[in-house]
Amino acid sequence: MKKLTIISVIVFGFITGSIFADGAKTFKSKCGACHTLKVDGKKLTAGSLGPDLTGVATRQSEQFVKLYMTKPSKARKKFPKECAHLVKKCGKSGMKMPNVSLSKKQVDKIYKILK
Ligand code: HEC
Repeated sequence: MKKLTIISVIVFGFITGSIFADGAKTFKSKCGACHTLKVDGKKLTAGSLGPDLTGVATRQSEQFVKLYMTKPSKARKKFPKECAHLVKKCGKSGMKMPNVSLSKKQVDKIYKILK
């Protein structure tokens, strides 16, 4: 199964010829249910439980975004200033982002499409 996944990732990479598409695919499956993300003006995902992430990596630091992606509870403690604007949104939807399990590679790929 793992081999099959690795092979399909490689084949997918060849077909699309871009790391970007891979990041977009991971984003769709891991983040898209909760977040909206626009790429080149087009909506890649339209989740509404969390805030819109379009341009988040230009508003927030790389360290913050990469940590929040997998361990938001840790990021809230480490970056209280960066999280201040999220408190209102948490209150509004009544939910906090849960931890998401991602490999370092997946974090890097997703980060690239958030810029
Ligand atoms: C179950 C829903 C859910 C999933 C899945 C989810 N998030 Fe979130 N996310 C939220 C919510 C809700 C917030 C608002 C802050 C909070 O409550 O934690 C948030 C906040 C964020 C922020 C901070 C935004 C800002 O303006 O500073 C980032 C970055 C983020 N999410 C990235 C991601 C990424 C990347 C993924 C996929 C790997 C992901 N999230 C998956 C619900 C989710």
